[in-house]
Amino acid sequence: MLAGKRIVLGVTGGIAAYKAVEVSRRLVDAGAHVSPVMTAGAEHFIGRTTLSALASEPVQTSLWDEANPIPHTVLGQSADLIVVAPATARLLAAYAAGLSTDLLTNVLLATRAPVVVCPAMHTEMWEHPAVQANVATLRSRGVHIVEPEEGRLAGGDVGAGRLASPERIVAAIEAVLSTTRDLANVHVVVSAGGTREPIDAVRVIANRSSGKQGYAIAAEAAARGAKVTLVSTAELPVPAGVALRAVETAAQMQAALTELAPGADVIIMAAAVADFRPVAPAAGKIKKDQGVPQIVLEPTPDILAALGKAKLAGQVLVGFAAETSDLLANAESKLRRKHLDLIVANDVSAPGVGFQHDTNAVTLVQPGGVVHVVALADKRSIAKAVLDTVVQIRGASPTPNSKRSLTK
Ligand code: CTP
Repeated sequence: MLAGKRIVLGVTGGIAAYKAVEVSRRLVDAGAHVSPVMTAGAEHFIGRTTLSALASEPVQTSLWDEANPIPHTVLGQSADLIVVAPATARLLAAYAAGLSTDLLTNVLLATRAPVVVCPAMHTEMWEHPAVQANVATLRSRGVHIVEPEEGRLAGGDVGAGRLASPERIVAAIEAVLSTTRDLANVHVVVSAGGTREPIDAVRVIANRSSGKQGYAIAAEAAARGAKVTLVSTAELPVPAGVALRAVETAAQMQAALTELAPGADVIIMAAAVADFRPVAPAAGKIKKDQGVPQIVLEPTPDILAALGKAKLAGQVLVGFAAETSDLLANAESKLRRKHLDLIVANDVSAPGVGFQHDTNAVTLVQPGGVVHVVALADKRSIAKAVLDTVVQIRGASPTPNSKRSLTK
């Protein structure tokens, strides 16, 4: 797993810096190439010579090196993974804000490799809302956080904040390296946002979907090596490596998805599609002096049900179910009715869940009553749980990568 992997080990200025030496030794013993980077703060706690001796190459500390004028891009671009252990509150703040103040923060910005951050600090600092907000920001961007442990801290205090053990840190690195490319060569199509159905030239019927959950799934799938197409009504920044098909109405979303479906290995329908649309939208603006308009509605096509009917062998179809009551029963009925492999159900009446929030809590339901509850977490973590299940379904499918044929 670790053999031949290029790992940048960032060490910042905390008392736990001495444990980074043990992390480095374990990674090198497992066959990894470890490039250590220390901040000025770290040098107050451990000597460069110690870390250099137990890494694969000498410690680097400076951006300003005549022999190597761009160390941050060289390190960032060639890394398979970057781990920061320990990470101080200051490092978390700089990284969350995108500040490039020294070699390590520059390397963190100049990479597309997965990043594992292992915070360590006093309990009061760890629990401070500013620190927790920075951790949440980093998590939502896909950074893997290895939570600190409870235990004895510097100065004899006891509480949460102690650096995770070297065993846990190395296990987290192995887990990240083993899952990061598990969607390589897989075409994932994700729909996101709420559709807008025109009433007239300026008015629409819309819904409260922000698109954030669909974008988090697209970003996570791309980070795991998938080819990702996002069919979206939302105006959010498009994640790196994702192709966007901008749509507005249910009809446009259906046209795009029907075109993309035959080439898709996985389709994830996170969009909130309007169930009804005006039969005859007015071409111009409806004027007040024309009286109160009678807007006649008609049902929109059920895009997901149509995709379910035309599902190809080996294709994985995932739906969402936004419910306010009878979560499990409604989700199971939609799963069956629409021929889905997985449905992501959420109770949108619960606090912090669903539309417009940055967090979500979901129940993943598979055929045969397989149910997995994911507690309230940022939408990127929910995306990970959904894609982990997709990978598992593909692994269990008899013909996940073979040439597909129509099943129905
Ligand atoms: N969906 C769809 N086309 C529609 C309506 C819904 O593709 N016209 C998809 C949604 O994207 C979601 C799933 O179907 O993945 C379930 O959507 P939801 O609104 O929860 O269910 P409905 O089937 O519309 O049933 P109801 O509104 O009665 O709950």
